Amino acid sequence: MTPDDTTSFRWWTDAVSSHAERVDALTFGFLGLLALLVIPVAILLPYFVVHYREGSPASRKRAPSNNRRLEWGWSIIPFLLSLYFFWHAAVLFLDQQRPPEDAMEIAVVGKQWMWKFQHPGGQGEIDSLHVPAGVPVRLRMISQDVIHSLFLPALRIKQDVLPDRYTDLWFQAEKTGRYHILCAEFCGTAHSRMRGELVVMEPEAYQAWLDAREPDDTLAARGEKLFRAYGCSGCHGENSVVRAPSLAGLWGSPVPLADGGTVTADATYVRDSILFPQRHVAAGYRPIMPSFRGQIGEDDLVELVAYIQSLGSRDRRAAPVRQD
Ligand code: CUA
Repeated sequence: MTPDDTTSFRWWTDAVSSHAERVDALTFGFLGLLALLVIPVAILLPYFVVHYREGSPASRKRAPSNNRRLEWGWSIIPFLLSLYFFWHAAVLFLDQQRPPEDAMEIAVVGKQWMWKFQHPGGQGEIDSLHVPAGVPVRLRMISQDVIHSLFLPALRIKQDVLPDRYTDLWFQAEKTGRYHILCAEFCGTAHSRMRGELVVMEPEAYQAWLDAREPDDTLAARGEKLFRAYGCSGCHGENSVVRAPSLAGLWGSPVPLADGGTVTADATYVRDSILFPQRHVAAGYRPIMPSFRGQIGEDDLVELVAYIQSLGSRDRRAAPVRQD
């Protein structure tokens, strides 16, 4: 385990995932291609400028006229090489957009000026994130105030963290160690100090770390308590007199809406339904749910979403909400 030392000069940072290695291969490959194209031009250009300057004795008569083969060659070869890099970059980008189904989920709330991470078992941490090596991790991120951007240089990933909307990011770190977490979007006075540490551990060590900090409740169990405390269960509960949509089995399934559209019941939908209930009214229901805007903070919303998620899905296997 070598800490990523901030004081000594490093010309290039560690790459701790296969994704990061592919990003580096693309970056250096493309730089190499550019050098191959630019260096001959940069050398020949001043030579020609001097050699064929006005009044120079150099003969210009022997300059070859059209050379079709040469012209096609220097057009097509760089074009194909660029396509090759574009293809690899596109595949890499799309891979990065699709987290594996079994990825472990960690909730992230960005605020002026700190990162708050919550593990499914309910373990929370601020400005540090412990993850197991060799396990896919999916971050569900939201901002409490302005736009932030979570940047994990060792994993070569960066994603804006927005207010009012969840964004996802996933990675699988392969090398244990300590690496930087940075905010990459100017977000106010202490932006430069909005940084933390990513700690990649052996899975057993991670489990021990979790066990040592085991809270009374998982994220979902805390959400269930909030569900009752905010009175959600009064209408969405089993024996409610109000006919509100049942939330069991909701997660991940398509919800037909009163306006004829359909929306997938994901984290953003659940959060929207709590704060802006008129935005997506389910088909067959009256728009009578009150808004909880201004009453529930992002931390509580993360727990409520985890609870709804734990109620499972009709269509798909429920995403894992805790590990034992
Ligand atoms: Cu948060 Cu910059």
